Amino acid sequence: MKNYRINLIPGDGIGVDVVREGCRVMNALAEKHGGFKFTFNELPWSCKYYLEHGRMMPEDGLSILADCDSILLGAVGFPGVPDHVSLRDLLLPIRTGFDLYVNMRPIRLLPGLNSPLKDNRINFVVVRENSEGEYCGKGRMDADTAVQESIFTRKGTERIIRYAFEYAKRNNLGNVLSATKSNALNYSMVFWDKIFDEVRAKYADIKSAQMHIDALAGYFIMHPERLEVVVASNLFGDILTDLGSAMLGSIGISPSGNINPEGKYPGMFEPIHGSAPDIAGKGIANPLGTFWAIQMMLEELRENEAAGCLMKAMEDVLADGRIITPDIGGKATTTEMTDAVIAAIMA
Ligand code: NAD
Ligand code: IPM
Ligand code: MN
Repeated sequence: MKNYRINLIPGDGIGVDVVREGCRVMNALAEKHGGFKFTFNELPWSCKYYLEHGRMMPEDGLSILADCDSILLGAVGFPGVPDHVSLRDLLLPIRTGFDLYVNMRPIRLLPGLNSPLKDNRINFVVVRENSEGEYCGKGRMDADTAVQESIFTRKGTERIIRYAFEYAKRNNLGNVLSATKSNALNYSMVFWDKIFDEVRAKYADIKSAQMHIDALAGYFIMHPERLEVVVASNLFGDILTDLGSAMLGSIGISPSGNINPEGKYPGMFEPIHGSAPDIAGKGIANPLGTFWAIQMMLEELRENEAAGCLMKAMEDVLADGRIITPDIGGKATTTEMTDAVIAAIMA
């Protein structure tokens, strides 16, 4: 029997709840399938850990973390530790340290979800650059001035745009849209556009276009049905995917796969949402974003049957409509939602 070793970073706030429930779902899937199991290694790295140890993870954290088949992360960040510290010292170093340069974020309206938009045809992916750009962490600040740098390299820009086109090709998708802002960001986004033009020239069969990020945000709302693959820098992809998940009714729904396509490091899977301090400890977080992230992890591990089983279970529970968490209009708790998904898996 195959044994997948999964490193868990529950993190803070509702991250702890959704990862706990995620493990229950994974064990149910393994039981149902019968051909594999999971061994979990839980790492306590979080804001609580920071307050005890003065750091978010141990010095050799990345080598501890690398020793597994895949990583599941809840969310990191909690009042008491500045957000730029908790993320700078944990989440971002994992993404860059493991060169997880692709951040795949599917946005799809599952049956049973109520979109706040009029047009319900929502099914696209955002391919977010995940290793550089606006999140490179470089800059300086004194009492009067702050300078925040963005680094766009040819290597980094080319590989993410190429990945978006290859993804479209692999999945028979006909159009790739690039998020830009080259009218105002006169170095970084001019460079991004130039490389987008170079790469798209090699994919004559795929329609492609670019749109300034402000106009694109409007386009998400007005014409979601026209979106197929959107490729975006680190910051733009971040913003567009909270927007995308909100178009499904809640930011608690959408998942995120941090991937090194060359397979040099394990992938890290997480919901797109944060630790939600406003509802932490209430037991009402929507765990679907995490379950969907687990579905992406299973595909990465080539357990397609189990991935399909989990997706169908989530769809069945939503379509049934009896067990719905408060963020999407119901009264169910996180655990009740998990119980329902597990029951659907086992059915
Ligand atoms: P957030 O995503 O935590 O919350 C935004 C709003 O959405 C809140 O009202 C919250 O209650 C709601 N929400 C989020 N997830 C939900 C879920 N699963 N079910 C129901 N409601 C949900 O964003 P924020 O408030 O900007 O950030 C809070 C903290 O999380 C900060 O410390 C931030 O830095 C951190 N953060 C971490 C990650 C991560 O670790 N990947 C991502 C985003 C934000
Ligand atoms: C996300 C989060 C992170 C990001 C933050 C918390 C650094 O918002 O995963 O979308 O911007 O990448
Ligand atoms: Mn985000």
